[in-house]
Amino acid sequence: MSGPGMRAVLRREGFEANAPRALAATGLLGDRASHTLHSGLANGGVALTAAKPPERAAIEQLARGGLVAFRDSEDVATLLPVAEGFALGPEDPLAEAERWKLSKFQYVQSEGGEAVARSALGLAMVQIHDPAALALMGRFSVATTPAEALDKGDLGNRGAGFLGLLACAGILLPCDGEGRTADETDDQRRMWDFHELVYHSRSRLGRSGFRVGATWEFRDEIPQPPILRDSPWRDNGVLPLYRPTVLSRDMPLFEAMETRRSVRAYSPAPITAWELGEFLYRTMRVRAHVKSGDYEVASRPYPNGGGIYEQELYVTVEACADLPRGFYHYDPVAHALCPISPPDADMSMLIEEAVSATAGLGRPQILFTIASRFGGFNWKYSAMCYAAQLKNVGAIYQTMYLVATAMGLGACGLGLGNADRFARMTGHDYATEGSIGEFMIGRPL
Ligand SMILES: Cc1cc2nc3c(=O)[nH]c(=O)nc-3n(C[C@H](O)[C@H](O)[C@H](O)COP(=O)(O)O)c2cc1C
Repeated sequence: MSGPGMRAVLRREGFEANAPRALAATGLLGDRASHTLHSGLANGGVALTAAKPPERAAIEQLARGGLVAFRDSEDVATLLPVAEGFALGPEDPLAEAERWKLSKFQYVQSEGGEAVARSALGLAMVQIHDPAALALMGRFSVATTPAEALDKGDLGNRGAGFLGLLACAGILLPCDGEGRTADETDDQRRMWDFHELVYHSRSRLGRSGFRVGATWEFRDEIPQPPILRDSPWRDNGVLPLYRPTVLSRDMPLFEAMETRRSVRAYSPAPITAWELGEFLYRTMRVRAHVKSGDYEVASRPYPNGGGIYEQELYVTVEACADLPRGFYHYDPVAHALCPISPPDADMSMLIEEAVSATAGLGRPQILFTIASRFGGFNWKYSAMCYAAQLKNVGAIYQTMYLVATAMGLGACGLGLGNADRFARMTGHDYATEGSIGEFMIGRPL
């Protein structure tokens, strides 16, 4: 990608200061050539066609480190590399094929007052400065030649460099004779859903850009969301649960691990509230809560990223010896259940959805819905919050499996639940607290 007028420029985000050091570190240029290149990059940019091979290689290295971006001659857009594997590629990327089409994995968002286009598989993103470019992009919803798309108006020939940037970022893909892209012909890519691959690429280091992990972005704007919360349903009553004290009768860990399995079919005899109390005490209770300065963490029997313990547990009692059927909230500090609602149509459907997750092989006696108060995680971390919260649910699943095994209960993790129904049953805002995991237990046959 170095067609006519394409130029390399220094990226804005405070990287200017790092560029001279990074240029020296490439070892590709002498002091004078480095100085000339740096001042060219900082003052209007360096035309790629004019760059000699060592300069071009140095530019490429800076681009891989996120220090250099590329602009088309008409300033329609800027390409920002986001991954170390980025390469400039052929001089005219659009020469590779006759017809081109938008990738199944591309998307456009509004960021900082501009449209930004990305592909989940791309090694660069494209900031679009001229909104007319979006109409030009839209022409590639079907396989089209660049000449045809440019002819139809929008940006006229001003758009040629922009299309090159889109190709370089993997947003436009070459088509085969039947107008299909690799997203449509490659079996591995075909099996990916758009949102899942986007989520994968944005929540891992490597292709996510440079804002990922514990960024503390909201520390000065929003107080830390509380780690512990009084149950909103305390006024409906508080049913204290049994607290086990004896550890010596516990099954050894390795025996629990070796004998653990998913048990979906349960006895007509339901489990008892006593057993439910022990199970919840050993898995979900809060065993400590620490405040250090203005930062809070908690401790429960299972590990949790950041010590945030953003989970809330909801308990649907379908069959339990000493507890009325109904939908409850678990208070992990009081180790008690607070009733939310008696059995209703939503509760029946929650159970039926669990039955269907087991392909009809089981019916929970107790169904746990693990919800997350998303803000707890989103406040501290960026880009990987949802992924980490699902990992936390995995830690809960294994803890629940092992405790159920040690207690002689049947248990099964479930892969799917209904977040919309959960929002309706709890009254929680969908994006504030949502269900992200389901687990069922019962007395084995
Ligand atoms: C995250 C996760 C999701 C699961 N989802 C389901 C499910 O939806 N339905 C089901 O019947 N079993 C589900 N299982 C249980 C697995 O099918 C089971 O763990 C696997 O087949 C291995 O068998 P085992 O647990 O008996 O060793 C799930 C397990 C995990 C860890």
